[in-house]
Amino acid sequence: MDKIVIHGGARLKGELQVLGAKNAALPLQCAALLGEGPTTFRHVPRLSDVQTMNQLLVGLGCTVEGDRTLTIDPSGVQDGPKEAPYELVKTMRASVTVMGPLLGRHGFARVSLPGGCAIGARPIDQHLRGFEALGAKIRMSHGYVEVKARRLKGARINFDLVTVGGTQNVMMAAAMAKGTTVLENAAREPEVQELAIVLGKMGAKITGAGSSTIEIEGVDNLHGIDHAILPDRIEAGTFAIAAAITGGDLLLLDAPSSHMHAVLAKLEEAGAECRVEPEGLRVIGPDELAPIDLVTRPHPGFPTDMQAQMMVLATLARGQSVITETIFENRFMHVPELCRLGADIHVNGNVAVIRGKARYSGSIVMATDLRASACLVLAGLVAEGKTEIRRVYHLDRGYETIEKRLRKVGAKIRRYHGAPS
Ligand code: EPZ
Repeated sequence: MDKIVIHGGARLKGELQVLGAKNAALPLQCAALLGEGPTTFRHVPRLSDVQTMNQLLVGLGCTVEGDRTLTIDPSGVQDGPKEAPYELVKTMRASVTVMGPLLGRHGFARVSLPGGCAIGARPIDQHLRGFEALGAKIRMSHGYVEVKARRLKGARINFDLVTVGGTQNVMMAAAMAKGTTVLENAAREPEVQELAIVLGKMGAKITGAGSSTIEIEGVDNLHGIDHAILPDRIEAGTFAIAAAITGGDLLLLDAPSSHMHAVLAKLEEAGAECRVEPEGLRVIGPDELAPIDLVTRPHPGFPTDMQAQMMVLATLARGQSVITETIFENRFMHVPELCRLGADIHVNGNVAVIRGKARYSGSIVMATDLRASACLVLAGLVAEGKTEIRRVYHLDRGYETIEKRLRKVGAKIRRYHGAPS
């Protein structure tokens, strides 16, 4: 198992290229199942989650070629098992997003129920409620859910809560239903908008994506396309915080600033300078950080996927900050590890009270989930001495060769292969 070792203290300076978005790539790979003929995606990030999704698609009968440029041909799915096995779903919950396209195009899907994960229970009841409203029969047995329908029929679906995956899954099923579907209380995330753009290019009729009401007029068939995936707002936000906390100056090439307003507002509140420039987003760290209070919310609110990273900034600020996590019930796993490095954080339920001006000193810490591992990398960048992060396979799920890219802008960071777990 790999580990990452960081010697803190360097001011980060220079340019970093923001890569394609993981949380756009995964549902788009599933959308390719809807097209008659191959679909090609460009700027695909080289991440283990993308690989896991490719494995799942091949298991369904697709041919998959390439990586940065990825071509998926779903012609073989018709005669395939239409099943997402436990072994894959347990490693990556996003695997359940094959259900909508399989149901919409082939009238059947069998998917392992995902079970809980480090950050929360994460049920899929809203996905299934949506499929049922479209006329699908749902059957649960032996840890699997089967959804079946001769032809889905358009319906009005009001989600009980805002769900990104639920909106995407039901949108893909409804794209090939008979009649019109209206999704209410839908997720407004840029990755939902990106999926609607791609489905539209494939021939779907979708309006309202980006708002909380999406209308989908079903069509009989969709075709393959060629599409460049949008840049990753969460990766860009993570690097922006790296600039802010190291007193650095980074130009984040192709950073999707228009998708990052909530994060940039908090960075400016903390005293960082954020400038949108023709090539991307420039972030300059202040001499001293100011405290921030934030509450995670669905988009356009503050993203939960940036909560852990922003907590590192709060631990360094002059004064007290309060962070409230409202999306996932167990997303403070990084707190004890930050405290091991020297932070002063008190958690009560979903509220973390952070006393600032932490003086981090390097130590061995354990990554527990993707964004928690990113936050430990950030803490390591400012810690005195050596920080060793273990279980970095979490990091590789969402950040492509982060150590090489940070080294390019001055960080003293290395990866070691085959380290003790
Ligand atoms: C997506 O997960 C992202 N993953 C997550 O990013 C992100 O944290 C999350 O959206 C919220 O922004 C991908 O895009 C692959 P949800 P998703 O359905 O779709 C509850 C990362 O770090 N819920 O919007 O699974 C659920 O338990 C990952 O990149 C139900 O109760 O999130 C959660 O509390 C982590 N029933 C809340 O809603 C349902 O049927 C939001 O979940 C569905 C969800």
